[in-house]
Amino acid sequence: MEERFWLESWAEGGTKTSFHLREVHPHAALLAEQGLLADAAVLVPLCGKSVDLLYFAEHARRVVGVEFVPEAVEQFFADNGLTPAEDPPGVFTAGNLQIRRADLFQLTPSDVGPIDLVYDRASLIAFPEDMRARYVAKMIELIPPGARYFINTLEYRPVLPTPPFTVGPDKIEEYYGRHFTIEHVRREPRPDHRMVEKFGLDHLTEHGFLLTRKPLAP
Ligand SMILES: C[S@@+](CC[C@H](N)C(=O)[O-])C[C@H]1O[C@@H](n2cnc3c(N)ncnc32)[C@H](O)[C@@H]1O
Repeated sequence: MEERFWLESWAEGGTKTSFHLREVHPHAALLAEQGLLADAAVLVPLCGKSVDLLYFAEHARRVVGVEFVPEAVEQFFADNGLTPAEDPPGVFTAGNLQIRRADLFQLTPSDVGPIDLVYDRASLIAFPEDMRARYVAKMIELIPPGARYFINTLEYRPVLPTPPFTVGPDKIEEYYGRHFTIEHVRREPRPDHRMVEKFGLDHLTEHGFLLTRKPLAP
């Protein structure tokens, strides 16, 4: 979606930001259980004001979130009682946690530094299909060989015209299969998910995929 959509969503709040969860997502905890956070540098693209950032700051060495809506960044630090230093402009740091107030598509590998793990919840699926190729290309550019990339998606029917968009295992293979090995680590039917009742969905499944970047082709 375009920047205006997200600026308006954050300005309106309420149901427009219902993607924001109060609790740490179980998939973030899964990464800790699998030992993937220990001493890791974690990148969280499209981080919103997710409390998962705090969880990663506690369990990993370094966390970098990327979010372009100023309100989301301000709320993250205010809600959590943190006073970040801003240096250079738009880069906010509190302890081992940094949020870059920036358009993900402008980010370069040197902006984020070496990363071991990317955590993608409600990020790939925030984009409609015609914008997704650009996001996928950016992830391929940012993630170095050997690094891990966790993706959480929702798959549901009937298809909806607004985020979160439906993305299942076939699409993950299509988008990333050339550059990553893919493990499908979670497939959880969620008849109780808030979207099922709200949109009258027939079914909704939450997926978790753990990708590993392949070596660069010679
Ligand atoms: C669906 S929300 C997910 C937020 C977060 N991952 C979570 O789990 O709560 C998507 C977020 O990405 C931000 N966003 C969308 N496009 C972006 C872009 N190109 N660069 C940086 N942030 C972006 C939006 O403002 C919004 O906060």
